[in-house]
Amino acid sequence: MKHSSKARGQWTSNLGFIIASAGSAVGLGNLWKFPYVAGKNGGGSFVLVYLCLILLLGFTIILAEMALGRYANKSTVSAFAKIGKKWKFVGYFGVLSAFIILSYYGVLGGWVLGYIAEYATGGNFDISSSAIDTNQTNLFFQQFISSPVWPVFWLFVFTSITVFIVIRGIEGGIEKAGKIFMPALFLLFLVIMIRSLTLPGAEKGLKFFLTPDFSKITPSTVINAMGQVFYSLSLGMGINITYGSYLSKESNLGKNSILIPGIDTIVAIMAGLTILPAVFAFGMEPTQGPGLIFVTLPTVFHSMPFGNFFGFLFFFLVFFAAITSAVALLEVSSSFLIDTFHIKRKNAVLLCGGSVFLLGIPSALCYGIWSNFQILGRNFFDFMDFIPTNILLPFGGLLLCIVVGHVWGIDNAAIEISNHGTLPFRLKKVWGFLIQYLAPLAMILIFINGFLS
Ligand code: TRP
Repeated sequence: MKHSSKARGQWTSNLGFIIASAGSAVGLGNLWKFPYVAGKNGGGSFVLVYLCLILLLGFTIILAEMALGRYANKSTVSAFAKIGKKWKFVGYFGVLSAFIILSYYGVLGGWVLGYIAEYATGGNFDISSSAIDTNQTNLFFQQFISSPVWPVFWLFVFTSITVFIVIRGIEGGIEKAGKIFMPALFLLFLVIMIRSLTLPGAEKGLKFFLTPDFSKITPSTVINAMGQVFYSLSLGMGINITYGSYLSKESNLGKNSILIPGIDTIVAIMAGLTILPAVFAFGMEPTQGPGLIFVTLPTVFHSMPFGNFFGFLFFFLVFFAAITSAVALLEVSSSFLIDTFHIKRKNAVLLCGGSVFLLGIPSALCYGIWSNFQILGRNFFDFMDFIPTNILLPFGGLLLCIVVGHVWGIDNAAIEISNHGTLPFRLKKVWGFLIQYLAPLAMILIFINGFLS
């Protein structure tokens, strides 16, 4: 059995898989999105809802995806085809979503690289006075993202690094990158988190982040948290199917489906514990939105002893998280070409990487020279985030639950999950209920909400 998978590539060990999957999950969703979405949605109340949903939905869906991938031993489109030819199109949703997300993800990753360069070269963000002022960092941010050159240049650099890693394949590229970047990320994180938590005034941020106010939990909190769970765990896009397909038949899927969401959640919480205390300690607003790490944080670093150094470390850490997710996103479309058209990995990756770079250019330029170009009232970047996150992903996720829960069936899935009965699967009934009924309902809600927003 093993040799057939070897030809497609396989993780060297289950640990390799966990690290790579955690690398896919832990990304800008944890470091950039989670703190600002939590900040906007009332802090502690959002965190509480998020944790409950990770337990209910995160574990359920990731397990379904991994089981399907390993059973089919194929990347996402072919995996759905194995359940039934007519379900193949569900796989295309995933490939398309991953491709679209990667195009703007690369732009964000490029901004992060630009910030690293700014810190490496002195990092004063054109701030001449020592006064704490988000207007100045905001000005810097606006100037940086609206430049006709730099965002495209950094997008190119970021995409090239991603391509370089994915070309080297499963063991030599993706797994290895995870083994270097993920521990480095944790280490850097610990340093910066301790710095942030020991700032005078940090406890206000801590309180905001950790104390739930039940009166603040509204349907919109729940739906936003649900969307965040999906995004953060890379669900509904076939990545866990694809990575799962490189797993050996002996690995324990149940355990993996708890570990990966666990690691992802710990990193999201660490991000909140790092960013929000710093923001509060300097008397700033947590509701800044997407600019929180690019505008608010540099101001915080600027007013902190050795701030440049911590700023540099922080953006490096964000880069590590972003690159392992970008690698996963690129692997989805590349493995689709490899499995479907039997193209050589190198060519498939270059083709996907090249096209995703081209698709990223309008997102890179839409804060500057192409800002007049709007679709559905959104600039190109926001549109590229909106379509996969709010439309393709919940729709694809819904179909995934139907295919696994009702077509392939709980019993067949349980055979795969329990390694043909050699491992216990005690939660089979609960999992079956969640995947057949609760998860589809959640997806319909995200979908409706996405349409209305
Ligand atoms: N989970 C990633 C993050 O937190 C983003 C992401 C969404 C992703 N879908 C994906 C990554 C699919 C890899 C594959 O930033």
